[in-house]
Amino acid sequence: METGSNITWHELSLSKEFRRVQNAHHSFVIWFTGLSGSGKSTIANELANVLYKNGISNYVLDGDNIRHGLNKDLGFTDSDRKENIRRIGEVSRLFVDSGQVILTAFISPFQEDRDTVRSLLEDNEFIEVYVRCPIEECESRDPKGLYQKARGGLIKDFTGIDSPYEEPLNPEIILETDRYSIEECVSQLLHYLTSRNFI
Ligand code: ADX
Repeated sequence: METGSNITWHELSLSKEFRRVQNAHHSFVIWFTGLSGSGKSTIANELANVLYKNGISNYVLDGDNIRHGLNKDLGFTDSDRKENIRRIGEVSRLFVDSGQVILTAFISPFQEDRDTVRSLLEDNEFIEVYVRCPIEECESRDPKGLYQKARGGLIKDFTGIDSPYEEPLNPEIILETDRYSIEECVSQLLHYLTSRNFI
């Protein structure tokens, strides 16, 4: 195995750099943010398949799954969402340390919380992807029937209805799922990743 000159050996521990050398690719976070029903998880899973087929070790974390386990004690108040994102940020950092590409699909409605995750990582380790879709379109898709329940008052604090979503101020890339197909969005993202040497 070849090692670069910037790599130092830590006794009893393998550094991130060593793991990257072994995996033969960079490790970083692709952080999808957007309204419920905007397409975050769908795009993340499609991209994960493409990365996998190209030998890039990756993992998808998404809100609906993580809230069944690690974060099942959290609800949807502002402070619970903040804690949700804080924990996912820390988990993401561990994945980056482990040498993998981590794809996260959480509404993550607050700019401050997304910025906090960014600050946990190095400059070339965090890609904020705004999955932009008008709420009217998300509501008409309503894949889980949640918008209908929220309009009917059966769910409180629903993002975009009675809980805020702060649009990203400076995302690395915007994917518009009301204008482009999932395949097109994935290929726009792949173009971003290859043109900037992430993969
Ligand atoms: S976040 O705001 O804390 O980032 P997260 O992405 O984990 O949210 O979870 C969002 C998912 O939980 C939605 O896709 C939806 O399926 C479900 N959900 C249930 N209740 C709500 C709610 N009040 N607001 C938004 N999403 C909700």
